[in-house]
Amino acid sequence: MARKADEPLVLGIETSCDETGVGIVRGHTLLADAVASSVDEHARFGGVVPEVASRAHLEAMVPTIQRALKEAGVTARDLDGIAVTAGPGLAGALLVGVSAAKAFAYALGKPLYGVNHLASHICVDQLEHGALPEPTMALLVSGGHSSLLLAPDITADVRPLGSTIDDAAGEAFDKVARVLDLGFPGGPVIDRWAREGDPDAIKFPRGLTGPRDPVYDFSFSGLKTAVARWIEARRAAGEEVPVADVAASFQEAVVDVLTRKAVRACKDHGVDHLMIGGGVAANTRLRAMAERRCEDAGITLRVPRPKLCTDNGAMVAALGAEMVARGRNASAWDLSADSSLPVTDPHVPGHDHAHGHDHDHVHELSRKNLYDAG
Ligand code: KG4
Ligand code: ZN
Repeated sequence: MARKADEPLVLGIETSCDETGVGIVRGHTLLADAVASSVDEHARFGGVVPEVASRAHLEAMVPTIQRALKEAGVTARDLDGIAVTAGPGLAGALLVGVSAAKAFAYALGKPLYGVNHLASHICVDQLEHGALPEPTMALLVSGGHSSLLLAPDITADVRPLGSTIDDAAGEAFDKVARVLDLGFPGGPVIDRWAREGDPDAIKFPRGLTGPRDPVYDFSFSGLKTAVARWIEARRAAGEEVPVADVAASFQEAVVDVLTRKAVRACKDHGVDHLMIGGGVAANTRLRAMAERRCEDAGITLRVPRPKLCTDNGAMVAALGAEMVARGRNASAWDLSADSSLPVTDPHVPGHDHAHGHDHDHVHELSRKNLYDAG
C-alpha cells in the first residue's frame, strides 16, 4: 500500500454537459471539487442548450481551475497528471474541456488522460467508499444516460449490459416535471413533491418488464406519455391535478424498474456490489428502495453523496488518478472530443505511445508563462 504522498495527484476537468467541473484528488482522497453550473441559463428553455453551455464553459474554465487549485492547496507544478472528459457528451461543450486540458497539460509538461464520462461516474465512488471491488455492477442514471454496466476493471474493462431504448431516467423526470409545470431540472422538485404523495395512488406502467422483454434494458418514454395522458384527462374534466400523488406514483414506477433490473443483473452475474451513480442517484426514493432490495439480496450498495453523483470534475480526477496508479498509457496530444465515445472505452490512450509520454518537446517558454500566470 503506497503512502498517501506517493498517491497520484490529478486534476480533472469535466465539461460534457452544463457543469464546468474541476476536481483535484490524491489517489482516493478528494482535495477539491469546484463546479460552475450554467443550469440557470437553460432553465427557461426547459433543457440544456448546447451553444449556451459551450460559452459558459469558456467563461468559467480558468476561474474554476484556479478555484480548485486554491481549494486543494496545491500548485499546478505538483500535479502528476491532467484528466479530462473526452466523451460522451455535447460535442461543443466537450471541446472546451479537452482544449483547456491539453493546453494546461502541454504547458506544464504533464501527462494528459482523456477519460470516459460514464466510467468517471462509477470511479467517483472511490472518493467516498474507497477502492471499488472488482467486478463492480453499476447503475448509471442521469439526464443523458440510463445504463447497467459491469466493470471488471474501471480503467480498462467496462461492459454494457443494458441501457435505455428511448428516454434517460433523468429525462423522464425532467419531462414529467414540465407537464406538471414544476420547472427544470425536474428530478429534485419531483423528489420533494413525492414525499407528500402516495406512491400507490396511480398505477403507472413499468416499461420493459414483460416476460419477453430484454432483461437489462430500460424504457421510460411510455411511462412519460402515460403520465401526460393521465394529467390531460384530469384537466379536461376540470378536475384538480394531485401533484404530489402524480409525482410519487411516477417516481415509484421509475425507481421500481431501475432497482429491480439492477439487482437482477447482480444476481445473474454473481456480483455482490452495486454502485449507483449519475444525477438521478440523488433521488431519495431510489436510494431507499435500492437499500432495501440490495439488503434482501445480500448485495452491498454503494452510492456516493449527491454532490459527487451529479456531473463534477472530481469524478474525472478520480478516474485519472486510477489510470496513473495502474500505469495506463497517457493520451496523445491529438486527443479529440468524441460526443459518442463508447462506454467500453474507459479512456482514450495515445495511439502514438512515445509522443504521448514525451514531454521534452514542451517549450520552456509556455511552461514559464503558465507558472507566472498561476
Ligand atoms: O448526472 P447529471 O448531473 O447530468 C447528466 O445528465 O449527465 O444528471 C442530471 C439529471 C437531471 O435529469 C435531473 O433531473 C436528475 O439528474 N436529478 C434527479 C434528482 N436530482 C437530479 N432525478 C431524480 N431525483 C433527484 N433527486
Ligand atoms: Zn453525467
